[in-house]
Amino acid sequence: MIDTNSWNSQLYDTKMSFVSEFGKGILDWLQAKPGETILDIGCGTGDLSHELAGMGAKPTGIDFSEEMIKAAQKKYPELPFYVADAQSYRSPDSFDAVFSNAALHWMRQPEKVAESVWLALRPGGRFVAEFGGAGNVATVIEKIRIVLASEGVDANERMPWYFPTISSYSTILEHQGFSVTLAQLFERPTPLPDGERGILHWLNAFCAPFFIGMSAAEKEAAYRDIADELKPLLFHNGAWVIDYKRIRVAAVKPAGRKNS
Ligand code: BEZ
Repeated sequence: MIDTNSWNSQLYDTKMSFVSEFGKGILDWLQAKPGETILDIGCGTGDLSHELAGMGAKPTGIDFSEEMIKAAQKKYPELPFYVADAQSYRSPDSFDAVFSNAALHWMRQPEKVAESVWLALRPGGRFVAEFGGAGNVATVIEKIRIVLASEGVDANERMPWYFPTISSYSTILEHQGFSVTLAQLFERPTPLPDGERGILHWLNAFCAPFFIGMSAAEKEAAYRDIADELKPLLFHNGAWVIDYKRIRVAAVKPAGRKNS
């Protein structure tokens, strides 16, 4: 997992608020019921935990970023939020459901996440998640690769993301013991706010691991080069539209299966 402690919660809430907005779609898969306890993995600044609380559920949010958790605690002081790495998270409580939006692609050890989710759920509990799937932001990655290669940097060695196919991710869950009940991979072209500058905010918010070791000026120049390469492909009618692809999964920990 990359060091998301450097994340800027303000930038996230102002320029990247579409992350939580789109996440509301996956809440339809979760179908949270009043009184249910729900673990929200990668809760960010807490907006979807807050939505869940509004439905009468009892969410607990965890995130690897201290800054995000501080922002979530400030926005929603009535809700429990903790700094934790979902790849090693263990809870004293059993949850009715585990939920995650736009976070699991940051965790490069998916088997460990699956184990944490399994151990956090009660038998019969469900896991519902949405994140970047195979082919996600492929156009952007290709241009980052080209620009970094011109600086002698191999972007593959710095890849911070995990974007699985449906079959490879379902296999991981099934190996853990889950029954996968639904899985979907779909395109979600995603408009960025702020006109021409949208892509620069996006690169700045999410792509730090690719640019480690560069000065601010070098980074700025690389961002400009990437934007120039991408413009004919992803900039239309005054707005950037990024080639997001999402994977959605729903899985159940079979009733009668205890933790081993
Ligand atoms: C995503 O939500 O798919 C995503 C966000 C930031 C970087 C890469 C992917």
